[in-house]
Amino acid sequence: MTTRRQLIARSAALWGATSSGLLLPQLVRAQSDKLRVGFMLPYTGTFAKLGVAIENGFMLALNEQGGKLGGREIEFYKVDDESNPAKGVENANKLVQRDKVDVVIGTVHSGVQMGIHKVARDSGVLNIIPNAGVHAATRALCAPNVYRTSFTNSQPTLALGKAMVERGHKKAVWITWNYAAGEEAMEGFEAGYTAAGGTIIKKLGVPFPNVEFQAMLTEIAALKPDAVACFFAGGGAVKFLKDFKAAGLDKSIQLYGSGFLTEGVLDAAGDAAQGVLTTMHYSDALDIPRNKQFRLDFAKAFKTQPDVYAVQGYDAGQLLIKGANAVKGDLSNKKALYGAMDGASIDSPRGMWTMSKAHNPIQDMYLREVVGKENKVLGVAGKAVEDSGKGCRLG
Ligand code: PHB
Repeated sequence: MTTRRQLIARSAALWGATSSGLLLPQLVRAQSDKLRVGFMLPYTGTFAKLGVAIENGFMLALNEQGGKLGGREIEFYKVDDESNPAKGVENANKLVQRDKVDVVIGTVHSGVQMGIHKVARDSGVLNIIPNAGVHAATRALCAPNVYRTSFTNSQPTLALGKAMVERGHKKAVWITWNYAAGEEAMEGFEAGYTAAGGTIIKKLGVPFPNVEFQAMLTEIAALKPDAVACFFAGGGAVKFLKDFKAAGLDKSIQLYGSGFLTEGVLDAAGDAAQGVLTTMHYSDALDIPRNKQFRLDFAKAFKTQPDVYAVQGYDAGQLLIKGANAVKGDLSNKKALYGAMDGASIDSPRGMWTMSKAHNPIQDMYLREVVGKENKVLGVAGKAVEDSGKGCRLG
């Protein structure tokens, strides 16, 4: 779809070519028009901290480029999506229809992402997903204008099962929130764990974003598994870690998780996170110069420590910079824009990663253990892990 501003810009270019160099004030204004970036992120609720970390990471990447994209000034628009899937389409349209953004950066919650996805596919507006791992976005419903700089929900947990079985934990209970992210994380976990020789003896769930875990923890105590594996994040992760410890389960049952369980929560969770093992495409403790520099710069700019969400936001910025530079800020030049973003290699604080044909990162997964206030790296649990991209016909 062509926006009104793009039409003005195009007619301005035509004027410049056909008139004798005489530019009307209106046309000059159109050509120096600002590029519009829309954030659709959670700024309230259980994922509020995640949204802020993503925005900060994105801004850091842009600020390293002098705060411009392809030479153009930027105007920012923001919508708090509240992690509410029921308002997903309406909120995405506030940015696309009302604010006429050139790109939507969002979001965190998989259900809300499906709302953005519908609007992105209908309008053709560029969407960069800085977190939500919903499979459909880069599998059956993949789209040329939708890119992800984070993960698919099953990517981190695919690598978890082998590490558990290697530690002798062959009987596990799985617990999560009952929505796409939890269910798809389970899919990855089940595939990896059963292939490694483990058995899931029970799958438990609570509705998102509930944090009433007591009845389930009592059930886990009675089941006596070797291990518990889970997907929780943000405020809910803090509550789950604390309740697991308060119930005394940490003494006899090893707790594992998709790495989000221990991201951005270590201060709040305190003792309850110690010794928890997770798999994730990032670790704060990654000993590479790119990560060390990123962590220094982020802490200096925002007076807080970055986590995986900040890294994903930073990489969304890096990807957009690549695209925008290739088209000198004219995001309506889609062929060249996508050409620069397809198959991009991103020099990330998580290590180098490449964009798959389905527009999802191909990346290493690390096994981590919480020691003090850090996710210490124990090793690489999966090398260049690529999502199946099943049903996607791009590239
Ligand atoms: C998701 O809904 O896709 C989601 C939310 C929070 C996370 C990871 C995935 O930390």
